[in-house]
Amino acid sequence: MSISYAAMSKNFKELESHLFICTHERDDRASCGGSGSKELASDLKSWVKENDLKKKIKITKSGCLGLCEEGIVAVCYPQGLWYTDIKPEDIEDLKKDLK
Ligand code: FES
Repeated sequence: MSISYAAMSKNFKELESHLFICTHERDDRASCGGSGSKELASDLKSWVKENDLKKKIKITKSGCLGLCEEGIVAVCYPQGLWYTDIKPEDIEDLKKDLK
């Protein structure tokens, strides 16, 4: 095993925000994936790419973050900010937080 700080990795040297968006989907109860999180993640990834922010901001689809009833759920590091009940119309606010 190898452990390193993000700042030491050449791929993440300038990374300022890494947002993990739950895209888990299940049939038996509420889930982020069933609430539009995949589309949200794709839209944010496109925004990062189109605005040349790839070195500063990383968007990653994640599995269940454990707050399924409060979805869409996302968490941003290193800030340690948790977002719950994200709606599609919140995307502009998320972009502002990530910049
Ligand atoms: S399904 Fe998204 S937090 Fe569990």
